[in-house]
Amino acid sequence: MSTPTQRIVSGMRPTGPLHLGHYFGVLVNWVALQEEYDCLYFVADWHALTSEYASPGRIKQFVPELVMDWVAAGLEPEKCTMFLQSQIKEHAELQLLFSMFTPLGWLERNPTYKEVKGELEGAKDLSTYGFLGYPVLMAADILMYRPHLVPVGQDQLPHLELTREIARRFNFLYTPLFPEPQAKLTEAQKLPGLDGRKMSKSYGNAIHLSESMEQVTPKIMSMLTDTNRMRKKDPGNPDQCNLFPYHVLMTDAGKRTEIVSGCTQATLGCVDCKKMLLESLGAFLEPMRARRVELENNPRRVWDMLEAGNRKAHEQALETLTLVRERVNLEYKELSALRS
Ligand code: TRP
Ligand code: SF4
Repeated sequence: MSTPTQRIVSGMRPTGPLHLGHYFGVLVNWVALQEEYDCLYFVADWHALTSEYASPGRIKQFVPELVMDWVAAGLEPEKCTMFLQSQIKEHAELQLLFSMFTPLGWLERNPTYKEVKGELEGAKDLSTYGFLGYPVLMAADILMYRPHLVPVGQDQLPHLELTREIARRFNFLYTPLFPEPQAKLTEAQKLPGLDGRKMSKSYGNAIHLSESMEQVTPKIMSMLTDTNRMRKKDPGNPDQCNLFPYHVLMTDAGKRTEIVSGCTQATLGCVDCKKMLLESLGAFLEPMRARRVELENNPRRVWDMLEAGNRKAHEQALETLTLVRERVNLEYKELSALRS
């Protein structure tokens, strides 16, 4: 009487250490989903290459780092499949086949494309075929595993819409094969950076999941709080304070009520409030750090995890590709396959 487990696919680009913004924005959902769904999570190294093609060495270095961040954050290889995109060559074949019938207009109109290209223009030349085709590769990543749901941030919604359009077009041109995967948006848990802007590596306002309390402490202690509150005897307003969102996500509700009343009634000073936050952060980061250190001392385990994940993903990918090749008349039963 069991309904089959629904499948989930998502990926992240290996372009740097993960920070609290990534954790509360996406990763916390990934961790929860592995309990209930058949989850495939992959390191999107080909995607990283679409914009970082001139520095491929950096990407490789971040591949094991990303997996360590995932495991530190709570992904477990027994509960989900973690794999490395570039090792599953079927993604490239599927992208190629999708590219045959994806109208250029769909790609050129893509708001993420226009936005990111504009942002990075000057720094990098992104007038490339690969960068324009990024959403087609993403559609291949997703549809390969014929998932029900894709947990992504708001910024990825246009890409997911394109994925559905590509699925529909394939199903219309050939025989129906692909489901139309839906976005799994969980209520966005916003965590601004240390300076109140969006948390981002490039702003230098982030706390990384791999940081020690020695590294975190000075960052928290120097944060700007409610700027209208010059002295402890001035009442403060948590809603005007960069620090308070951190308490919202990391400090338990009881203590948080104390903080709000202490702040608004001018009985709690910002320094003490920061110390309370450091306690919460410690309780949050230390277990992550312990899991990470274990892997750092045993790097082979990271690669073994990926290898096991690659094997599982590859099996699924081959199954899909076999069906796709049949539909596009590229199944040559007359020829024996080359080994690859
Ligand atoms: N485009 C995503 C990002 O930049 C990464 C990604 C690539 C992805 N392929 C995917 C996410 C497939 C979900 C599903 O974050
Ligand atoms: Fe912010 Fe805490 Fe200071 Fe209030 S007491 S302004 S919440 S740091």
